[in-house]
Amino acid sequence: MAAMVDGVCVTVTLLLCVLGGQALDLLRVTATSGDPPSTPTVHCWCASYPNVTFCSWPEASRSPPTHYVASYSERHRQLVTKPCQLIQPGSASSDLISASSPSPEQLWHCRLPNLKLLTDYIINVTAVSSGGSRSYLASFMLEDIVKPNPPVDVRVSAHDTRKLLVEWSHPPTWTNLDVFPLKYQILYRWDNRGTPKSVNLGPFESTRVELKGLTAGRTYLFQVCAKELLGLGECSGWSSPVKYTIPRTKS
Ligand SMILES: *[C@@H]1O[C@H](CO)[C@@H](O)[C@H](O)[C@H]1NC(C)=O
Ligand SMILES: *[C@@H]1O[C@H](CO)[C@@H](O)[C@H](O)[C@H]1NC(C)=O
Repeated sequence: MAAMVDGVCVTVTLLLCVLGGQALDLLRVTATSGDPPSTPTVHCWCASYPNVTFCSWPEASRSPPTHYVASYSERHRQLVTKPCQLIQPGSASSDLISASSPSPEQLWHCRLPNLKLLTDYIINVTAVSSGGSRSYLASFMLEDIVKPNPPVDVRVSAHDTRKLLVEWSHPPTWTNLDVFPLKYQILYRWDNRGTPKSVNLGPFESTRVELKGLTAGRTYLFQVCAKELLGLGECSGWSSPVKYTIPRTKS
Protein backbone atom coordinates (compact mmCIF):
# COMPACT_ATOMS: atom_id res chain seq x y z
CA MET A 1 0.00 0.00 0.00
CA ALA A 2 2.75 2.41 0.97
CA ALA A 3 4.44 1.87 -2.37
CA MET A 4 1.21 2.67 -4.20
CA VAL A 5 0.74 5.85 -2.22
CA ASP A 6 4.29 6.86 -2.97
CA GLY A 7 3.72 6.14 -6.64
CA VAL A 8 0.67 8.37 -6.73
CA CYS A 9 2.58 11.18 -5.04
CA VAL A 10 5.36 11.02 -7.57
CA THR A 11 2.88 11.04 -10.44
CA VAL A 12 1.11 14.02 -8.94
CA THR A 13 4.30 16.03 -8.73
CA LEU A 14 5.24 15.30 -12.31
CA LEU A 15 1.78 16.00 -13.71
CA LEU A 16 1.47 19.19 -11.74
CA CYS A 17 4.80 20.36 -13.08
CA VAL A 18 4.03 19.45 -16.65
CA LEU A 19 0.31 20.07 -16.99
CA GLY A 20 -0.63 22.47 -14.23
CA GLY A 21 -4.41 22.72 -13.64
CA GLN A 22 -5.38 19.87 -15.94
CA ALA A 23 -3.41 17.46 -13.82
CA LEU A 24 -5.85 17.87 -10.95
CA ASP A 25 -8.61 16.21 -12.97
CA LEU A 26 -6.35 13.34 -13.89
CA LEU A 27 -5.37 13.03 -10.26
CA ARG A 28 -8.97 12.83 -9.13
CA VAL A 29 -9.58 9.88 -11.46
CA THR A 30 -6.39 8.12 -10.37
CA ALA A 31 -7.05 8.63 -6.67
CA THR A 32 -10.66 7.37 -6.70
CA SER A 33 -10.21 4.40 -9.01
CA GLY A 34 -10.01 1.03 -7.33
CA ASP A 35 -11.56 -2.37 -7.64
CA PRO A 36 -14.57 -2.64 -9.92
CA PRO A 37 -17.92 -2.71 -8.07
CA SER A 38 -19.39 -6.08 -7.12
CA THR A 39 -22.10 -7.49 -9.36
CA PRO A 40 -25.49 -6.39 -8.01
CA THR A 41 -27.69 -9.18 -6.63
CA VAL A 42 -30.98 -8.47 -8.38
CA HIS A 43 -34.43 -9.79 -7.51
CA CYS A 44 -37.39 -9.14 -9.84
CA TRP A 45 -41.07 -9.70 -9.14
CA CYS A 46 -44.44 -8.79 -10.58
CA ALA A 47 -46.46 -7.20 -7.75
CA SER A 48 -49.59 -6.76 -9.89
CA TYR A 49 -50.07 -8.92 -12.95
CA PRO A 50 -49.59 -7.91 -15.70
CA ASN A 51 -48.22 -4.40 -15.45
CA VAL A 52 -46.47 -3.63 -12.16
CA THR A 53 -43.03 -5.25 -12.15
CA PHE A 54 -40.03 -4.23 -10.07
CA CYS A 55 -36.45 -5.31 -9.70
CA SER A 56 -34.45 -4.51 -6.57
CA TRP A 57 -30.87 -4.84 -5.38
CA PRO A 58 -28.91 -3.68 -2.33
CA GLU A 59 -26.96 -0.43 -2.42
CA ALA A 60 -23.21 -1.06 -2.71
CA SER A 61 -21.72 -0.33 0.71
CA ARG A 62 -18.10 0.05 -0.34
CA SER A 63 -16.56 3.13 -1.85
CA PRO A 64 -15.87 4.29 -4.52
CA PRO A 65 -19.33 5.69 -5.27
CA THR A 66 -21.34 3.45 -7.55
CA HIS A 67 -24.18 4.32 -9.86
CA TYR A 68 -26.45 1.97 -11.72
CA VAL A 69 -27.73 1.59 -15.25
CA ALA A 70 -30.72 -0.73 -15.58
CA SER A 71 -32.27 -1.77 -18.87
CA TYR A 72 -34.34 -4.59 -20.27
CA SER A 73 -35.12 -6.10 -23.63
CA GLU A 74 -37.13 -8.90 -25.15
CA ARG A 75 -34.94 -11.95 -25.46
CA HIS A 76 -35.46 -12.31 -29.21
CA ARG A 77 -34.88 -8.56 -29.81
CA GLN A 78 -31.90 -7.95 -27.58
CA LEU A 79 -30.73 -4.89 -29.49
CA VAL A 80 -33.89 -2.98 -28.58
CA THR A 81 -33.25 -2.07 -24.94
CA LYS A 82 -35.48 0.12 -22.78
CA PRO A 83 -34.46 1.86 -19.58
CA CYS A 84 -35.77 0.42 -16.33
CA GLN A 85 -36.91 3.49 -14.31
CA LEU A 86 -34.59 3.82 -11.30
CA ILE A 87 -35.96 4.55 -7.81
CA GLN A 88 -33.33 5.56 -5.24
CA PRO A 89 -33.13 3.92 -1.81
CA GLY A 90 -35.12 5.84 0.78
CA SER A 91 -37.28 7.76 -1.71
CA ALA A 92 -41.01 7.93 -1.00
CA SER A 93 -41.97 5.47 -3.71
CA SER A 94 -39.36 2.96 -2.60
CA ASP A 95 -40.98 3.02 0.83
CA LEU A 96 -44.29 2.21 -0.80
CA ILE A 97 -42.87 -0.72 -2.72
CA SER A 98 -41.08 -2.30 0.19
CA ALA A 99 -43.48 -1.25 2.96
CA SER A 100 -44.71 -4.82 3.09
CA SER A 101 -41.27 -6.40 3.35
CA PRO A 102 -39.12 -4.22 5.59
CA SER A 103 -35.46 -4.84 5.00
CA PRO A 104 -32.48 -3.51 6.92
CA GLU A 105 -30.59 -3.00 3.67
CA GLN A 106 -30.90 0.08 1.53
CA LEU A 107 -32.49 -1.17 -1.68
CA TRP A 108 -32.45 0.29 -5.15
CA HIS A 109 -35.52 -0.43 -7.25
CA CYS A 110 -36.36 -0.06 -10.88
CA ARG A 111 -39.73 -0.33 -12.54
CA LEU A 112 -40.49 -2.18 -15.78
CA PRO A 113 -43.71 -0.79 -17.17
CA ASN A 114 -46.18 -2.68 -19.36
CA LEU A 115 -44.39 -5.94 -20.09
CA LYS A 116 -45.96 -8.32 -22.59
CA LEU A 117 -47.53 -11.57 -21.47
CA LEU A 118 -45.77 -14.88 -22.15
CA THR A 119 -42.60 -13.22 -23.39
CA ASP A 120 -38.98 -13.89 -22.42
CA TYR A 121 -37.21 -10.78 -21.16
CA ILE A 122 -33.61 -10.04 -20.26
CA ILE A 123 -32.80 -7.61 -17.45
CA ASN A 124 -29.38 -5.94 -17.28
CA VAL A 125 -28.44 -4.08 -14.07
CA THR A 126 -24.94 -2.65 -14.36
CA ALA A 127 -23.03 -1.19 -11.41
CA VAL A 128 -20.60 1.50 -12.56
CA SER A 129 -17.79 3.08 -10.55
CA SER A 130 -14.46 4.63 -11.38
CA GLY A 131 -12.95 1.16 -10.93
CA GLY A 132 -15.02 -0.31 -13.74
CA SER A 133 -18.42 -1.91 -14.16
CA ARG A 134 -20.16 -5.21 -13.49
CA SER A 135 -23.43 -6.37 -15.04
CA TYR A 136 -26.10 -8.64 -13.63
CA LEU A 137 -27.96 -10.35 -16.47
CA ALA A 138 -30.98 -12.64 -16.12
CA SER A 139 -33.90 -13.74 -18.19
CA PHE A 140 -37.44 -14.08 -16.91
CA MET A 141 -41.01 -14.46 -18.02
CA LEU A 142 -43.62 -12.36 -16.24
CA GLU A 143 -45.76 -15.40 -15.45
CA ASP A 144 -42.93 -17.00 -13.45
CA ILE A 145 -42.19 -14.02 -11.21
CA VAL A 146 -45.72 -13.06 -10.09
CA LYS A 147 -45.68 -12.35 -6.37
CA PRO A 148 -48.40 -10.14 -4.86
CA ASN A 149 -47.75 -8.06 -1.77
CA PRO A 150 -49.22 -9.59 1.41
CA PRO A 151 -52.93 -9.15 2.22
CA VAL A 152 -53.65 -6.33 4.66
CA ASP A 153 -56.00 -5.56 7.53
CA VAL A 154 -56.25 -9.09 8.96
CA ARG A 155 -59.00 -9.22 11.60
CA VAL A 156 -59.85 -12.04 13.99
CA SER A 157 -63.06 -12.18 15.99
CA ALA A 158 -65.14 -14.73 17.89
CA HIS A 159 -68.07 -15.64 15.63
CA ASP A 160 -70.00 -17.48 18.28
CA THR A 161 -68.81 -19.59 21.20
CA ARG A 162 -67.41 -22.36 18.95
CA LYS A 163 -66.23 -20.53 15.86
CA LEU A 164 -63.62 -17.96 15.01
CA LEU A 165 -63.87 -15.59 12.06
CA VAL A 166 -60.69 -14.54 10.21
CA GLU A 167 -61.10 -11.75 7.65
CA TRP A 168 -58.63 -9.76 5.55
CA SER A 169 -58.39 -7.38 2.59
CA HIS A 170 -56.60 -8.05 -0.68
CA PRO A 171 -53.23 -6.33 -1.22
CA PRO A 172 -54.15 -2.81 -2.43
CA THR A 173 -51.20 -2.85 -4.86
CA TRP A 174 -52.81 -5.72 -6.84
CA THR A 175 -54.76 -3.44 -9.16
CA ASN A 176 -56.41 -5.83 -11.65
CA LEU A 177 -58.40 -7.89 -9.15
CA ASP A 178 -61.43 -8.18 -11.47
CA VAL A 179 -59.44 -9.74 -14.31
CA PHE A 180 -56.87 -11.61 -12.23
CA PRO A 181 -58.44 -12.67 -8.91
CA LEU A 182 -56.39 -13.89 -5.97
CA LYS A 183 -56.63 -16.91 -3.70
CA TYR A 184 -55.42 -17.00 -0.11
CA GLN A 185 -53.82 -19.27 2.45
CA ILE A 186 -54.04 -18.96 6.22
CA LEU A 187 -51.29 -19.89 8.62
CA TYR A 188 -51.95 -20.04 12.32
CA ARG A 189 -49.38 -20.87 14.98
CA TRP A 190 -49.37 -21.51 18.68
CA ASP A 191 -47.09 -22.76 21.37
CA ASN A 192 -47.89 -26.11 22.98
CA ARG A 193 -45.86 -26.36 26.21
CA GLY A 194 -42.75 -25.01 24.51
CA THR A 195 -43.27 -26.82 21.16
CA PRO A 196 -44.26 -24.55 18.24
CA LYS A 197 -47.23 -25.88 16.25
CA SER A 198 -48.78 -24.55 13.06
CA VAL A 199 -51.62 -25.21 10.62
CA ASN A 200 -51.67 -24.06 6.99
CA LEU A 201 -55.15 -23.87 5.41
CA GLY A 202 -56.45 -23.06 1.98
CA PRO A 203 -56.56 -22.01 -0.71
CA PHE A 204 -59.63 -19.86 -0.16
CA GLU A 205 -61.11 -17.60 -2.82
CA SER A 206 -63.01 -15.43 -0.36
CA THR A 207 -61.48 -12.94 2.05
CA ARG A 208 -62.99 -14.51 5.17
CA VAL A 209 -63.01 -17.94 6.68
CA GLU A 210 -64.56 -19.57 9.74
CA LEU A 211 -62.33 -21.74 11.90
CA LYS A 212 -63.51 -24.34 14.36
CA GLY A 213 -61.90 -26.48 16.99
CA LEU A 214 -59.41 -23.98 18.41
CA THR A 215 -58.61 -24.37 22.09
CA ALA A 216 -60.19 -21.97 24.60
CA GLY A 217 -57.65 -19.94 26.55
CA ARG A 218 -54.86 -20.54 23.99
CA THR A 219 -53.18 -17.68 22.11
CA TYR A 220 -52.78 -18.02 18.35
CA LEU A 221 -50.94 -15.97 15.70
CA PHE A 222 -52.77 -15.59 12.38
CA GLN A 223 -51.21 -14.72 9.00
CA VAL A 224 -52.50 -14.70 5.42
CA CYS A 225 -50.75 -14.85 2.02
CA ALA A 226 -52.12 -14.12 -1.46
CA LYS A 227 -51.49 -15.95 -4.73
CA GLU A 228 -52.76 -15.43 -8.25
CA LEU A 229 -55.91 -17.58 -8.65
CA LEU A 230 -54.61 -19.79 -11.48
CA GLY A 231 -51.37 -20.38 -9.58
CA LEU A 232 -48.98 -18.08 -11.47
CA GLY A 233 -45.76 -17.37 -9.57
CA GLU A 234 -45.69 -17.65 -5.81
CA CYS A 235 -47.66 -16.69 -2.73
CA SER A 236 -46.97 -13.24 -1.28
CA GLY A 237 -45.00 -13.00 1.92
CA TRP A 238 -47.10 -13.65 5.04
CA SER A 239 -49.01 -10.67 6.42
CA SER A 240 -47.78 -9.43 9.78
CA PRO A 241 -49.06 -11.74 12.52
CA VAL A 242 -52.27 -10.94 14.39
CA LYS A 243 -52.48 -12.32 17.94
CA TYR A 244 -55.76 -13.63 19.30
CA THR A 245 -56.57 -15.48 22.52
CA ILE A 246 -59.62 -17.74 22.32
CA PRO A 247 -61.99 -16.65 25.11
CA ARG A 248 -62.72 -19.24 27.81
CA THR A 249 -66.40 -20.09 27.93
CA LYS A 250 -67.93 -19.40 31.32
CA SER A 251 -69.72 -22.37 32.85
C1 LIG B 1 -52.32 -1.64 -15.89
O1 LIG B 1 -53.07 -2.05 -17.00
C2 LIG B 1 -54.45 -1.75 -16.90
C3 LIG B 1 -55.16 -2.38 -18.07
O2 LIG B 1 -54.38 -2.32 -19.22
C4 LIG B 1 -54.63 -0.23 -16.82
O3 LIG B 1 -55.99 0.07 -16.68
C5 LIG B 1 -53.86 0.29 -15.63
O4 LIG B 1 -53.93 1.69 -15.61
C6 LIG B 1 -52.44 -0.16 -15.70
N1 LIG B 1 -51.81 0.24 -14.46
C7 LIG B 1 -50.62 0.81 -14.44
C8 LIG B 1 -50.12 1.17 -13.09
O5 LIG B 1 -49.95 1.02 -15.42
C1 LIG C 1 -25.60 -4.15 -19.93
O1 LIG C 1 -25.67 -2.75 -19.74
C2 LIG C 1 -24.40 -2.11 -19.79
C3 LIG C 1 -24.63 -0.63 -19.42
O2 LIG C 1 -25.56 -0.05 -20.26
C4 LIG C 1 -23.79 -2.29 -21.15
O3 LIG C 1 -22.52 -1.66 -21.20
C5 LIG C 1 -23.63 -3.78 -21.42
O4 LIG C 1 -23.16 -3.98 -22.75
C6 LIG C 1 -24.97 -4.49 -21.29
N1 LIG C 1 -24.77 -5.93 -21.42
C7 LIG C 1 -25.44 -6.67 -22.30
C8 LIG C 1 -25.08 -8.11 -22.36
O5 LIG C 1 -26.31 -6.20 -23.00
